[in-house]
Amino acid sequence: MRKSLIINDILKEICKGKIVSGGLLASKLGVSRTAVWKAVNALRADGYFISGLGGGYVLAPENRRLCGEQLSAVTGENIVFFEETVSTNEEIKSLAELGEKEFTVAVARAQSGGKGRQGRKFYSPEGGLYFSVLLRPALSPADCLKITTAAAVSMCEAIEAVAKKDCKIKWVNDIFIKDKKVCGILTEGVLDGESGGLKYAVLGVGLNVSLPKGGFNSAIEDTADSLFQTNAAPSLVYCALLDNFIKCFKNYYKDIKDMPHLESYKKRSYLDGKKVTYVKDGKAHTATACGISEKGELIVKEKGKEILLSSGEVRVSGYE
Ligand code: BTN
Repeated sequence: MRKSLIINDILKEICKGKIVSGGLLASKLGVSRTAVWKAVNALRADGYFISGLGGGYVLAPENRRLCGEQLSAVTGENIVFFEETVSTNEEIKSLAELGEKEFTVAVARAQSGGKGRQGRKFYSPEGGLYFSVLLRPALSPADCLKITTAAAVSMCEAIEAVAKKDCKIKWVNDIFIKDKKVCGILTEGVLDGESGGLKYAVLGVGLNVSLPKGGFNSAIEDTADSLFQTNAAPSLVYCALLDNFIKCFKNYYKDIKDMPHLESYKKRSYLDGKKVTYVKDGKAHTATACGISEKGELIVKEKGKEILLSSGEVRVSGYE
């Protein structure tokens, strides 16, 4: 028990990018230098890459093992970190019910029951960045679409800043790089039983950062990709992606009712000009996508008539 506390405390101290001497760590944590040395060795054995120049320690830029301490240090946010959990959206719901503050972020290295839209599963092996943010917005349940669209733009901006890749948004919540999905977003609104208003919302994001060790599963191997063609991008890259995302999203979120992200969303629309299929009232339709409305709906043209879609799934014709 005591040992794991020292380990967490040491991680907290050495993930800030500056070398910390063994002596300073020992006195800060009230333990012997030998205890520090042993804890650092345990962390190394656990896969953390710690440089140890001149008797000091720092989590090296080459470190590939993500941890909550580093995510907290880089983002400054209230991070709840899981090596693996069923679903970070579910973790945030539990925290919300306990009264946790807005913008608490649950992050997992892997999920065993990641949830996607339309009741689907979201494949969440190691290599991705899976996180959920607790929001307590003054919005109506129908306005949750604004959260999803702001999150999509924020993730595009984060990817462009960190990975230097151009992103498109496939309405409403998928981020594409060169015709392949790299990120999905699931916003869940939880309603207040009495008022029927929004009690809180959970914004869940799953980003394929590195390639999964065994590859993507057969259901998505032709349609999914990751930002980097490596099995393990440095942990600092994950931290920078989350940090950029949160800063960007917070900026949009303060005026979320007015959809300040709309122009940026429209500019990135993947479906514009594409032939699409969708199902409405149990009937399959074929149409051409022609833009995004002022409310974030998809505008499609079918038999010469413009139709607005506010929910549901749209597929590019001939693309499963
Ligand atoms: C989709 O593409 O259908 C949406 C996928 C959303 C996945 C993320 S991963 C983090 C959070 N936890 C979940 O269970 N789902 C979301």
